[in-house]
Amino acid sequence: MTEAWRPEDDETSRRGATGPVKVHVPAKINLHLGVGPLRADGYHELNTVYHAISIQDELTARRGDTLTLTMEGEGTGVLALDETNLVIRAARALAAYAGVPAHARLHLRKQIPLAGGLAGGSADAAAALVACDALWGTGLTRDELATVAAGLGSDVPFLVFGGTALGTGRGEAVSPVLVRPTTWHWTVAIADAGLATPSVYAELDRLRDAGAAPTPMGSPDRLLGALRQRDPAVLGAALGNDLEPAAVSLRPELARVLAAGRSAGALASIVSGSGPTCVFLASDAGHADRMARDLTAADVCRLVRTAHGPVAGARVG
Ligand code: C5P
Repeated sequence: MTEAWRPEDDETSRRGATGPVKVHVPAKINLHLGVGPLRADGYHELNTVYHAISIQDELTARRGDTLTLTMEGEGTGVLALDETNLVIRAARALAAYAGVPAHARLHLRKQIPLAGGLAGGSADAAAALVACDALWGTGLTRDELATVAAGLGSDVPFLVFGGTALGTGRGEAVSPVLVRPTTWHWTVAIADAGLATPSVYAELDRLRDAGAAPTPMGSPDRLLGALRQRDPAVLGAALGNDLEPAAVSLRPELARVLAAGRSAGALASIVSGSGPTCVFLASDAGHADRMARDLTAADVCRLVRTAHGPVAGARVG
């Protein structure tokens, strides 16, 4: 996929940068999240359609003698900044792959909430790969970066590319969805506290074993057809997330958030990924703003934002 990539990025990448490298990276939602059976390796087989939206984190990389990470914004004081952080793990994985020392001073400005179902941690890992590649002049292709990304987490390769893309395997095998460009508008309801992804998958397994989960959605063909029609009402009817009943089971108040979106006139209300963030499809930017006002007044979540998509993946600038 080339839409997130510009020739000047290649130039920076080959030379290495002397000054700071600033990378922006989007959050993701899943327009279709079909969850298949649990595999022997502990992951579930996925059929998903990823969609990058305009809520962004920013990672700045500077030259340094060791590898350090500082941050501001969402999650400050809560998110560990040590070797367990996905940003540090990404920088080390790239250094090992390229055979260079992992020396950089990294600073993260975070807007994507932690454990929100928007792949914030994965986004930051993708940003670290792109930023360190430019800083160190390692000059990897996007496909090579995606290979390193797959070792860091299932959603990380998608955030290297961005746009709208099909994800298979455990989500790490990404291919672009080729449709005529259309911008979709969203209202996003961010919850007070996060949900741990593994516990939401485990809850889905429990519901399925108990015969209490809906039939798995499987293939995203209907969603892909809806994307081609470029009509928000058609897209709204095709959105779906197999993890939604599990997220609502663990966090029953999400039912109220989804209902508030419907009352506010959303074309569709869905849980994003493993939740607890909920996203509401709007017919245009003005509709997204009006829904944001109504949802704020309904007082069902910590923060309401508007966003559009698709946007590019992790990129310098
Ligand atoms: O790949 P990532 O580290 O983001 O996955 C976090 C957790 O989410 C996994 O350990 C697993 O419990 C769950 N998961 C899953 N099936 C997937 C992706 C994630 O069960 N396809």
